[in-house]
Amino acid sequence: MNSDLTRRGALGSALALAACGPRANGQPAPQGPVTPLRDLAPFPIGTCVQAGFLDDPAYAALTSQTFSQLTAEWEMKMEYIVLPDGGFRFDRPDRIAGFARNHGMKLFGHALVWYAQQPDAFVRLDESRTSFGRAYDNYITACVGRYRGQASGWDVVNEPIRDDGSALRDHLWSQRLGPIDHMVRAFHVARAADPEAVLFINDYNLESNPAKLDQYLRLIDALLKAGAPLTGVGCQTHCNADLPTGALTRTIRALARFGLKVHVSEIDVSIVRAGGWFVSREEKLAAQARLYAEALAAFVALPEAQQFAFTIWGVRDPDSWLVRENASDTPLLFDGQGRPKQTYRALERVLRG
Ligand code: G3I
Repeated sequence: MNSDLTRRGALGSALALAACGPRANGQPAPQGPVTPLRDLAPFPIGTCVQAGFLDDPAYAALTSQTFSQLTAEWEMKMEYIVLPDGGFRFDRPDRIAGFARNHGMKLFGHALVWYAQQPDAFVRLDESRTSFGRAYDNYITACVGRYRGQASGWDVVNEPIRDDGSALRDHLWSQRLGPIDHMVRAFHVARAADPEAVLFINDYNLESNPAKLDQYLRLIDALLKAGAPLTGVGCQTHCNADLPTGALTRTIRALARFGLKVHVSEIDVSIVRAGGWFVSREEKLAAQARLYAEALAAFVALPEAQQFAFTIWGVRDPDSWLVRENASDTPLLFDGQGRPKQTYRALERVLRG
């Protein structure tokens, strides 16, 4: 038997054993053995990782056993890649890409152009559009070209809409290269660097802010009309446990209207950020599991050709950006000991149909 099957079998039983133990955080233990999500889903089930986490054997095993696609949580963004002198470093992105390749996992590129990343090396460039544009194109080409043939897709434009949904964000990239032009340009340069990758736009709070969703849909329409090779629509889906039932379904359906690939790209469900109307923690946890299930059911209901990937934003609760913000949050599928929670069970049930 090949080592992969041996490893997966051993880990499958580890997951099964883990699924029966008591819960440190008081959650009901899912009954019976759990099946790796990657073995149940006909499409990629993703998660985000940090290169350093992959050195932990338990984390590496749980991640490769459960998921079939990796997104770099932050190390494939400008904040890591662009050096103060304008050079690039790809050591950690390559580590993540190598891990994905060695474990039969896809790689998803996140994120090329983002208002939140404006490295000094770009800010310092003189105002001339030409030199700035050349550096912009060079960065996109370097990143997308490096993982050509491995990255299944890229978030080319991340979070373009203002939080209140009133307009496009204003930032270094839009100021130097134009509010829409900088996006169209990024898509064309990314396409030239990789003819196959699915090229995404990506944003958050689309399920909780109708104005933002409307503005996002208008932008997608405008970019397509402008000839941008936009071929995927991302819905980050960072939501709170008090999100009303149906919001995720309506949003994912609305995003699918263009017939493009759809990526639920960063789902997590915060307990702590949820409002106080729940009567107990158990009720909040049940609502959280229902929201995971609703998002996946809405994704599974899409035409197969539009199902790009379903990505959870982290592996174990302590790995989550939300838990770094508030240690009492439990937003993900596995607890701190790597045991599957009822959120995991909820996704498993959807995938089992
Ligand atoms: O690991 C280093 C540590 O060694 C160093 O001492 C410390 C201070 O410099 O930085 C640490 O890296 C931080 C990293 O998170 C890991 O914790 C980076 O500074 C920090 O910028 C990075 O934040 C990430 C953030 O995006 C910005 O890139 C979060 O992990 C990540 O979860 C978050 O993810 C975003 C998506 O990209 C877009 N959608 C929203 C989502 C949540 O904010």
